[in-house]
Amino acid sequence: MLENIARPQFNENLSHDISQALMEIAKKRRSTRNFTGELIPDNIIQNSIEIAGSAPSGANRQPWLFNVTKSTKGKQIIKEICEMEERDFYIHKPNKKWVEDLRPFHTNEDKSFLLDSSHIISIFYQNINRDNLEAQKNYYAKESTGIACGMLINNLHLSGVSTLTYTPKRMQSMRKLFGLDNSWLPFMLVIAGIAPKSLEVPQMTKKSIDEICRFWQ
Ligand SMILES: Cc1cc2nc3c(=O)[nH]c(=O)nc-3n(C[C@H](O)[C@H](O)[C@H](O)COP(=O)(O)O)c2cc1C
Repeated sequence: MLENIARPQFNENLSHDISQALMEIAKKRRSTRNFTGELIPDNIIQNSIEIAGSAPSGANRQPWLFNVTKSTKGKQIIKEICEMEERDFYIHKPNKKWVEDLRPFHTNEDKSFLLDSSHIISIFYQNINRDNLEAQKNYYAKESTGIACGMLINNLHLSGVSTLTYTPKRMQSMRKLFGLDNSWLPFMLVIAGIAPKSLEVPQMTKKSIDEICRFWQ
């Protein structure tokens, strides 16, 4: 069955101005590993998750789940799980090359920022949906979830919320917290919070438009 929808409003001048303004704001986004502890109203987080949920997905399977943690106790539990993994990664069983590559980012096994964040969004995806009696295959589940997470991060940023994309090793142990069976695969945590007025982040440059974009013909 098909449905009629209103197409996006394209107006050359206006569309240019909007794209330029959005580009300028988007380029100010930086991963944040330092939050003030201020709490963000749930509806702002929920709106951004709803935007993420509007993402395109293979055969519209929407293979994602966004688990939100906002209580201090919940954040403390996630911090403990993450730091246990991180101690292995940085101290007990380090992959020396990887740890060396991370040096410019000043990251270490201390993840105190999790407690100072407002909401921790733990994202999982399913390759196969076993929620119903008949298992259903999802298509391009990982790619689809990546697009949804990009939209989540961008829209939190547009709403004035700072984020960190955080991928602790063996995030599987978090499945239990959220009561998920093992058809749910860990994707990433998006840590959302308010950044301090004066924020230090690793110095870095982004590739220029000429390096990342080629028009062919
Ligand atoms: C898939 C992915 C995984 C990441 N994992 C981590 C992580 O585990 N810990 C961390 O501190 N930053 C992590 N980051 C953040 C990157 O270090 C950061 O995006 C990169 O250095 C560019 O900086 P920017 O986000 O400020 O532009 C991750 C980013 C992505 C996209």
